[in-house]
Amino acid sequence: MPEQPEWGVAVVTGGASGIGAALAGRLSAGGSRVATFDLPGTEGPGELHVEVDVTDGPAVAAAVARVEAALGPVEVYCSNAGIAAGRGLGDDGDWERSWAVHVMAHVHAARAVLPGMAGRGRGSFVVTASAAGLLMMMQSAPYTVTKHASVAVAEWLAVEYGGRGVTLHCLAPQGVRTPMVAGGDERSRRELDASGEIIQPAEVAEAVVAALRSGEFLVTPHPQVRDYEAAKVADRTAWLARMRRLRARL
Ligand SMILES: NC(=O)c1ccc[n+]([C@@H]2O[C@H](COP(=O)([O-])OP(=O)(O)OC[C@H]3O[C@@H](n4cnc5c(N)ncnc54)[C@H](O)[C@@H]3O)[C@@H](O)[C@H]2O)c1
Repeated sequence: MPEQPEWGVAVVTGGASGIGAALAGRLSAGGSRVATFDLPGTEGPGELHVEVDVTDGPAVAAAVARVEAALGPVEVYCSNAGIAAGRGLGDDGDWERSWAVHVMAHVHAARAVLPGMAGRGRGSFVVTASAAGLLMMMQSAPYTVTKHASVAVAEWLAVEYGGRGVTLHCLAPQGVRTPMVAGGDERSRRELDASGEIIQPAEVAEAVVAALRSGEFLVTPHPQVRDYEAAKVADRTAWLARMRRLRARL
């Protein structure tokens, strides 16, 4: 462990599993004091694990206060919890839950930590979106649309709070080998396979650490996502036609 850690106190939400657990492990290995937040009944690899539903604003504020009292001011906040809810257009409950986790959880977290980071002139806030937030997850409208909103929240926060020693980051991976992916149905797995290589959570954590160092906003552990997004923006009609062909193949 380095004598002088690069980052002091870090919080990782969704820290009990998958990408969150890998992020928590990587930051701990770098010497940070890590707190993990996840749903009741979970355990996380952090020095402190708080059972909290990140869609509950007052509970998130209380959890952050608990971390700051125990470990000190939060320097890195990875707002990473996410859910795979809703097939096709989904039902209203899928949309409400997806909005709560993929949008409001970032807003609650931003309220709890960004004013402090800006005041201290030091901190980093990472929103885990998805390549689906730049492109599409054909099997789920609620996931696709609310992950687009996650990207927009991260961009909005980057303009409002970025600079002055605070960095904002938006993590947009494609397939990552986690329990979320393992739990998907056959069509979702075929879509994921068609999207390219499925990488390990540790590779995602390494990409986040590199962005924390460089200040890069968009974190794409699958580099082809940038090319796909550029092609989409260049000609949306052609891109949508390609997506329809891919959908028909799946
Ligand atoms: N696995 C992938 O292929 C992939 C690709 C792109 C983006 N993502 C995103 O990465 C993030 C992590 O996903 P993962 O693949 O590690 O999934 P995962 O299911 O392994 O982990 C997600 C964690 O979030 C927690 N969580 C969900 N709702 C919560 C809530 N309301 N409050 C607190 N904790 C909550 C879960 O309990 C779980 O521990 C998610 O935002 C996901 O959308 C995943």
